[in-house]
Parts: sequence; C-alpha cells; structure tokens
Amino acid sequence: MVKHLLTGKEFDRSAVERLFDLAASLKSGRGKPGAPKPLAEKSIGMIFAKSSTRTRVSFEVGIHELGGQPVFLDEGKTQMGRGESVPDTARVLSRYLHGIVIRTFEQKEVEGLAENGSIPVINALTNEFHPCQALTDLFTIYEKTGKFDGVKMTYLGDGASNMANSLMQVSKIAGIHFEICAPAEFRPDAAIMAEKLGTGTVNWSTDPANALRDADFIYTDVWVSMGFEKEAADRLRILKPYQLNWQRLAMAKPDVKVMHCLPAHRGEEITDDVMDSTHAIVFDEAENRLHVQKAIMMTLMGD
Ligand code: CP
Repeated sequence: MVKHLLTGKEFDRSAVERLFDLAASLKSGRGKPGAPKPLAEKSIGMIFAKSSTRTRVSFEVGIHELGGQPVFLDEGKTQMGRGESVPDTARVLSRYLHGIVIRTFEQKEVEGLAENGSIPVINALTNEFHPCQALTDLFTIYEKTGKFDGVKMTYLGDGASNMANSLMQVSKIAGIHFEICAPAEFRPDAAIMAEKLGTGTVNWSTDPANALRDADFIYTDVWVSMGFEKEAADRLRILKPYQLNWQRLAMAKPDVKVMHCLPAHRGEEITDDVMDSTHAIVFDEAENRLHVQKAIMMTLMGD
C-alpha cells in the first residue's frame, strides 16, 4: 500500500489507473452534494521553501474541499529554517498533523520527513522531482486521448530538470513513449533513464525535427528553474535552439497538443503564438492539479 508520494514511482500502473478514476470522479462531482470529506477533522501541513502559485493554491483549496484544514508553513520562518533537524521536525509535526505537503530544494529533506515521521508525506517539488505535476500531466493526456498505449510525448529543453526526471518515471509506468530532446549539456539522468518501471519507453535525442515527428504531445518547461538562477545566462544560450515556436510545432502531428507545467517564460522556452494557440492545453493541466492532488490526498491521507 502506498504511504508517501516522494518521487512518483510509488504508484504502479494499476494504482495510477485507480488514482485517475478517483480524480475524474472528484472533477465531475466538484461542488455537488455528497462530495467526499475524507480529511474532516484532519490538519495537513504545507511546508514551502520555494515560491508557488498553482501548487500552494490547489493544495490549500483541495484540503479545504476534502473537509480538512491546511496549515501553511513558510520554511524560512520555521525552526527548520534556523537549523532544527529534519528528523526532529518530522517527529514533532507527526504529533500535530495528519499529513505533510512539502516544496523544498533537497530531495533528502522530503525523504527525511517520511523516514522519521509517522504521517504521509507528499513531495510538492524538489530540485530532483515534481511528481504531483507529472501525474497531473499524465491524467491530462489520458483525459484528452482516452489511452496511454501508442501515445508519443516529446519534451523540448532542459532534459536534466525535475520535470524531465518525473515525466520519465511516470511515462514508463503508464506505458507511453517519452522522447526527450535536449542538448548534451542538459541530457537526462542516465540512472533514471535506465530504471525499469513499466511498459513505457524513454529516449534522448538532440535534433528537434526527428524528436517531434509524429508527436501527439509536446512538453516544455522553463529553462531556469528555481535554485538555478546563477546559471541563467548559460542556460538561455544553450537551450535557445530548443524553443517551442510555430516552426517546431509544425514538425509534430497536425493536432498536436502543447503542454507546460507553468509558469511560462514567454519568448524564452515558448512563444506567444504557440502558448495562445488552440494546441495549448496548459490551463487544463493547471486545473487538473487540483483534482489529481485531491485524489492523491484521499489515497494517502483519507483512511
Ligand atoms: N507548476 C507548478 O508547480 O506551479 P507553481 O510553481 O506555481 O506551484
């Protein structure tokens, strides 16, 4: 039984299907009488060390809609920010809360909370992984196509990012083909590429024309993620040939869908004409964060 969501690998294909069935029913039943309240009388801590719009709001709203109480903690204003250890923090928070959602820099902090506490922990983004976003993206793909088998998603840009890592994992679990088109400087993590997780396949290539051929979905993300600001000039220069513009869009299937986890840096990784076109499903992805995360919390914290 899944207890935490730390990387995204915790859910196998059948668990992903159950999660998405639940997310779809929460989406269609939102605001209607009889909507489930499995977090009633429960308090969920939200530790954030990085900025957020979508993740913070969708979790706070989701916890409220499931009957629970969100407790927002700016990590820098807690004693963790002044050096209290992760294990001690985990033991203390487990005495008050019924679950923790955490967005931070180091993956080991998330893992440390899970190992030393006694309540479920959800990774809401680290430098290494962003599983809530990746699972939501997969849900959105399923919502648009009704299938995973035979689906090709091409990722353009920083292949070494947290989104690339998480999308590699969930794509393999679900069974889609995930093509990462990235320069050698930002090639995908070899160990994550090699992991055996399901029937899906992952490939790394550097030529957008080849990578985009027959793509059903194109995915892109910011070139300078939070925590990598010092590398901004080099990143913008190296990743420029991987911009998602109209010329690149035309290399994929005529009805290709465009995905982006947002926020977008328009004019850098994606152009306005693509972002504002009918191909873009980026705001559906943003909305689906709410429904998928509610399903994740019901599964892990709802008992
Ligand atoms: N996609 C995403 O995680 O958005 P926020 O940084 O706004 O939470």
